[in-house]
Formats: sequence, C-alpha cells, structure tokens
Amino acid sequence: MVPQWFIEEKRDGREHDEADLREWVRGVAEGTLPDYQIAAWLMAAYLNGLSPRETAVLTDAMMRSGDCLEWDDLPRPTADKHSTGGVGDKISLPLAPLCAALGLAVPMISGRGLGLTGGTLDKLESIHGFNVRLGVADFRRIVAEAGCCMIGQTDRLAPADRRLYALRDVTATVPSIPLIVASIMSKKLAEGAQTLLFDVKFGSGAFMRTPGRARALAEALIATGRHLGRNCRALLTDMDQPLGRTVGNALEVREALDVLRGGGPRDVRHLTVEEAAHMAHAAGRFPSLVEARAAAERALGNGAALERFRAMSAAQGGDLDAPLPEAAARLEVPAPRAGWVAHVSAETMGRVALRLGAGRQAAEETPNLAAGVDAIRQQGERVEAGAPLCVLCAASPERARALADDARDAFTLADTPPPERQLIREVLQ
Ligand code: URA
Repeated sequence: MVPQWFIEEKRDGREHDEADLREWVRGVAEGTLPDYQIAAWLMAAYLNGLSPRETAVLTDAMMRSGDCLEWDDLPRPTADKHSTGGVGDKISLPLAPLCAALGLAVPMISGRGLGLTGGTLDKLESIHGFNVRLGVADFRRIVAEAGCCMIGQTDRLAPADRRLYALRDVTATVPSIPLIVASIMSKKLAEGAQTLLFDVKFGSGAFMRTPGRARALAEALIATGRHLGRNCRALLTDMDQPLGRTVGNALEVREALDVLRGGGPRDVRHLTVEEAAHMAHAAGRFPSLVEARAAAERALGNGAALERFRAMSAAQGGDLDAPLPEAAARLEVPAPRAGWVAHVSAETMGRVALRLGAGRQAAEETPNLAAGVDAIRQQGERVEAGAPLCVLCAASPERARALADDARDAFTLADTPPPERQLIREVLQ
C-alpha cells in the first residue's frame, strides 16, 4: 500500500482493497503514517463516503489495533448499550445493574462528558471512592461477580480510534456516518459483548439533530455490528428535551438511584425499562419483549437491580452510604407566568449546566460534580406564576444568578396542555 495512492483512490471515489485498508489502519495505530496523510484521507473519506464493506473492514481493523476482550468463560450472555449521548442521559447507571438483575453480564466501557453531553464516568465519580480506572483483570472479576462493571477506556482499547478521532476533531471530519460508525463500533466490539443496543438520539440536545440522520446512523451501526457477528438493535429516542429532572453529575446519580429504588421520573424509568427489556430479549433471556419488560419492572420494584448496583459499587470502591457532593449555592428560577410546560430545550439546558460548571468545554477541564440543574419541570406539567421551573446548583450564588435568565428561556409555557411526549420513536432490528 502506497499512502499517496491510497489517498488518491478515496479522493477519486473508488473502493479500497481490504488488505490495503488494514495496512492503512496498522500505520495509523503504529504511528508510521504522518498526520498530514491521515488527515487528507479522512477528508476524502468524509467527502466520498465508505461502502458498507469498507466500513466493516475499517471497524474490524480499528478494533484489532488493540486488545479485544472475550467473555466465553461466563455462564451468562454478555450485553451492552451505547448511547450517542444527550442532556440528562443517565440511563447507563440504572440500566447496567438492571440488566445484571435480569441475568445478563454487562461489561460497560464508558466515556467522559464533553460539551453538552454528560459522561457516565464523571457521574460515577461523584460517588465517594468509586474507581473507574480498573485494569482488565479487575474488570473481568467484577463483571463475573456483580454482573456488571463500568470503567473508562484503557490505552489498549482500539488505539487507532484515539488517533483518528483526534485528527477528525481538528479537520472538520467528525460528522461522517461511516467514520462515526467505525469509531463507536471499534470500541464497543473490542469490549466483547455479544448483544449491543444503540440508543441513537436526535434533537437539539443530540449529536444528530434530525430523526433522519439518527436513523441513518442507527442503520449503519446495526449493519456493521451484524457484519461482524454481533446481535444488534437500536432505539431512536427524542433528545429535544432533557431526560429526567436533573442535569449534572451528582444530581443525575441521585436520580438514577431513585429509579433503582423503584421511583424516579417517568421518562427515565420508562427508557431504562425499555432498554433493559430489549437487551435481555435480544440476548435470549426471555421469549418475548413483554416478559422481559415485566421482569425489568419487577427487578426495579423489588430491589434486585439496586442490589446489583450496590455490589458493583462496593467492588469498585464506591460508598453509596456517603453523601453525594452538594453545591454551595442553589437558586430557584421562577416561572414568569402560570401555564403548562409545553417544551424544555435540551440544548439551552445543556448549555446552562455546562456554564454552571457541570461539564467540560475542553477535554482537560475538570467538572464540578455538584453543579447542574435540579428539579426541572417537565413537558405536560402545570406551573403557577412564581413557582420554580428548575433549581440551579453552582459553586457560588453569583454564578447561579448569572444563568437564571438563560435557564428560564429554556422553558416554553402554554395555555393548554401539550400532547404527550413520545420518547422512543422507533425500534430498529
Ligand atoms: N462517539 C465516538 O466514540 N466516536 C465518534 O466518532 C462520535 C461519537
């Protein structure tokens, strides 16, 4: 493979040979290819696309650029989900232990928040002592014992993706469906779970703004996963409004624990149960989705899922009895008038939470785990004039006050109740 000929091939819209593409990815991972040639190829791939076959080969080669975990020794089927991320998306926290309670093994390798999107690792780290930096041996042991374990990406997991992603980020080539698919799937496949559920979000708080783009991504994720021998499903879910009543790390952990205790907001609980039911059904634990759903409801109601979360947390050093971090300042944002909450903008709420200190604007920043937005009123609720629409949590009253107007602007109030929100728009399998 001659790098400039390889780039020329994609520049002219031709399909790569499998062996060349694999050699190219080896050159990316081993550092023998320079940044400028990789960047040129990324732009050619962005503009001319990759065929389904090329996407599958690229994904497989990226997956094999590092360690690949295998779970054949476990007596339970392995499953995991990937969410494309959103505002207030804390579903992984109750989902992994719920799936463990349903008899699955969930080896979950998660990420940190960046921009508007929160990250599971930051949320978990708001639990006192919770360690997300475990080696493979501990990861395997905890998945076997507790049924689930949630850790961060190791240096050895799909290293080709780390280099490609960093270059995509600075060459305006992130929003390419084949490149996104290869990036997401190489990491998920290396993690080794046999069943994969994708929660592909669309709307103002999501990476994909429209249902059409989200569907195209979901279809490509499923096709690539199938091509590489995995059992895949996808849900298309609405991320135009925040999920649940909290946005911010410790606040979201509290809400996730509420769901595990059988309560929590209806939308968070609904999505958790649906995702768990799809994973358990797709993995063959239940003959029908209806039975899987009923079992998931039971495991939330009888404490079985909470008990799995406790076991995982204890194994990872987390103390669930220690208080979660609390913000120094809390400020209620009053409704300017009485009305029905017709819409809450996920994008605006995400920006408010970010500026309150809950997220990162650049990868090297450290979030304030206690900061964020609490007690968010949801679509369809009635509010009276002056009643709180939400509560801002920040390191200082000044910081909270500076964002009160923006937070209020996230809410649209109407004189009549809005139609019910349809959170799950489509199931693809
Ligand atoms: N998440 C990833 O891991 N990779 C992408 O390219 C986009 C989202």
